[in-house]
Amino acid sequence: MIVSALILGIAGQIPSPMSAQQDHARLLKELGIERLRPGKDGMNPKNPNFANTDEAKSNPYPTIPALMTLNDGRAVAARRDWPKRRAEIVELLDREIYGRTPKRTPGVKWEVASTENLEIGGVKAVSQKLVGHVDNSSCPEIKVDIQLSLTLPAEVSRKSPVVLEFGFVFPRRPGAPATPPPPAPVWQVDALKRGWGFAILDPNSVQADNGGGLNRGIIGLVNKGLPRKSDDWGALKAWAWGAGRCLDLFSKNPKIDAKKVAIEGISRYGKASAVTMAYDQRFSAALIGSSGQGGVKIWRRDNGETVENVAGSGEYHWMAGNYVRYAGPLTPGDMPVDGHQLLALCAPRPTFVGIVSPKVEGIWIDLMGTFMATKLASPAWELLGKKGLSVTELPAEGTPAMAGDLAFSGHTGGHTNVPNFPSFFEFCARYWDKK
Ligand code: GCU
Repeated sequence: MIVSALILGIAGQIPSPMSAQQDHARLLKELGIERLRPGKDGMNPKNPNFANTDEAKSNPYPTIPALMTLNDGRAVAARRDWPKRRAEIVELLDREIYGRTPKRTPGVKWEVASTENLEIGGVKAVSQKLVGHVDNSSCPEIKVDIQLSLTLPAEVSRKSPVVLEFGFVFPRRPGAPATPPPPAPVWQVDALKRGWGFAILDPNSVQADNGGGLNRGIIGLVNKGLPRKSDDWGALKAWAWGAGRCLDLFSKNPKIDAKKVAIEGISRYGKASAVTMAYDQRFSAALIGSSGQGGVKIWRRDNGETVENVAGSGEYHWMAGNYVRYAGPLTPGDMPVDGHQLLALCAPRPTFVGIVSPKVEGIWIDLMGTFMATKLASPAWELLGKKGLSVTELPAEGTPAMAGDLAFSGHTGGHTNVPNFPSFFEFCARYWDKK
């Protein structure tokens, strides 16, 4: 053993990547789990295992962990109790759900790959492509180069707020048709017109969206190519780490107001936006779009996608290894923490929970569970002296509830945040463009 480790060390080789299935099987073995319960089918309503959509059957575990009760049973009664409760929730999320971001992570050196002067929607702007080279001196075999684009309005009299998006770039399958051109940059133009910048981070350049990539990317680099421990960070935490490095960069840019940087994403990147906003308290605002299971919704519900789906080999890499235990032998009802507590960690900062129309999008995302989590998180804003969610009943589609510092808005379209941007920008402007 020692000899072979030494040989590996001397030769400077690291274990080769595993497939997601292999790593998932390795994880189950390590946790002593024989098999997991399968996830729900989201496609075929004739399948007996089709995802539930009946609200009456959606809450098999009626007890949801209390937000405002400390682990020792005492009530969180005053603002001064919050740091303790916050730390307790962070520990549960770290250990059981998302994994622990390492205390020390390698530094990032940013390089400007290109600079272009453009006119976008009639606004003069400067757009840069940036590459964040992650220090890999501890394991030169693993290279991590963070890909970011940053566009700032050119003619402004003050530092610009910036909206940072987790860009949705699906890897192209071999033989698949070329990706269609990106849609007209609607929200980007709106941002520039307000004197704000926008930035797009490619999450996959930080950490692959695939369990097979877990011993590469930033997670693999820190682990020197070895498989994850069961409470190590998953891709959501790694993507959030990447967003944090972008914010470091923005903080050094004299043209950017780094106290006014929002994080935004949809779907798996809605989950990542929630995790980023919850953990990195420097972010000023967030649009958490259709984050679904593992994001801002009540996880123990049985409606649309379930914990079992996320625990499968196609999605487990988003989470800590420990998370899969809740798909067997444990149940989602055994989770000591839930999605409203993740959202509560965003308080008291302005947070906008967005969702799409189930009529257009389908049943996967659990509209009601998302609203429940938002409502249950609201007391955190109130405790911290802000205004929580302004409604108590699910608002009609296309009617954003945004009078408070925690907003909820279901738009009438499909799987995109775009229709929610005008409301989100109005919401941000309340904080960023105060006269
Ligand atoms: C799948 C997955 C969801 C995820 C979504 C997406 O549908 O089950 O959890 O949010 O992909 O990222 O588009």
